[in-house]
Amino acid sequence: MPRFKTIGILTSGGDCPGMNCSIRAVVRTALGEGIKVKGIIGGYAGIFKEDIIEMSASSVGNILQRGGTILRSSRCLQFHEKSKRKKAYQILKKHGIEALVVMGGNGTFAGAYVFYQEHKIPIVGIPGTIDNDIQGTEYSIGFDTAIQTAMEAVDKIRDTAFSHDRNFLVEVMGRKSPAIALKVGVCSGAENIIFNPEEEDLAHIVQDIKRGIKRGKKSSIIIVAEGEKPGLSYAIQGELKEKFGIESKVCVLGHIQRGGSPTAFDRFMASKMGFTAVKALVEKKYPTVTVYKNGRVTLAPLNKCLETKKRPNKDALEIVRALSI
Ligand code: F6P
Repeated sequence: MPRFKTIGILTSGGDCPGMNCSIRAVVRTALGEGIKVKGIIGGYAGIFKEDIIEMSASSVGNILQRGGTILRSSRCLQFHEKSKRKKAYQILKKHGIEALVVMGGNGTFAGAYVFYQEHKIPIVGIPGTIDNDIQGTEYSIGFDTAIQTAMEAVDKIRDTAFSHDRNFLVEVMGRKSPAIALKVGVCSGAENIIFNPEEEDLAHIVQDIKRGIKRGKKSSIIIVAEGEKPGLSYAIQGELKEKFGIESKVCVLGHIQRGGSPTAFDRFMASKMGFTAVKALVEKKYPTVTVYKNGRVTLAPLNKCLETKKRPNKDALEIVRALSI
């Protein structure tokens, strides 16, 4: 089978730090293999708009350190429709795009898989989401930078919490995945983590706060995983006040966690995964996802990476509770 002449690349879903590193790696690895690369602007939606540009080695210069994605991103509802996907396939063909590298999270991969099944277009995915919730890989690009950003924010909140003897509920992103909350909790020395309010025993958390007060603590930080939608901390704040008479302040970190210059770890992983994605296409290993497993970047079948990762183990929660006595 002849080699691909032209491949496309897009970034889709919530952006994350490190996407630019992968774009750079994909473009330059492909050009080195004698393959042209077309960048699709704005995720799957860019296919319908035919917002497609040819990428050169210099078009990805000086982007390694930049957050966000130079290709832009979106959550594209049109791509959920079979007839629209057929149209998308025809547009890609018109632009000479024979294969795709898609970078994003669960929604991006679900779209990629159904697109592959319907049109057999060669596809390789690169996991890119701060949530680190993709099944089949221990790591998704952007997670480390998001942790760093959230941890630094909590450090700052702790300064003012200490000065004013206050309790703070700091809400972090991750949708249903508590991965950010768990890691930030350990790294910022939080007093507690709340990631499943229905199951959570607020009375127990209050007990811990009171135990801290007894030994002279005058402030505490509780990390809240946002869950389905942001703002959950306000409900917890109300409950703490009404049921237990405990005052607290809320700080929702929000999209700050999605921006910023990628950490060294994210730059390295994103570059390695971008390189691996192109090699996978060259070696006809698709549909696959570049995954991180047992300390190595390797490939996994795309259909093994479609589900949201099962709840990460609660070791971190145990550590936070053990270290905050
Ligand atoms: O999936 C990444 C993520 O940042 C989640 O952590 C968050 O819940 C969601 O995206 C926010 O999405 P949007 O930017 O569309 O509001």
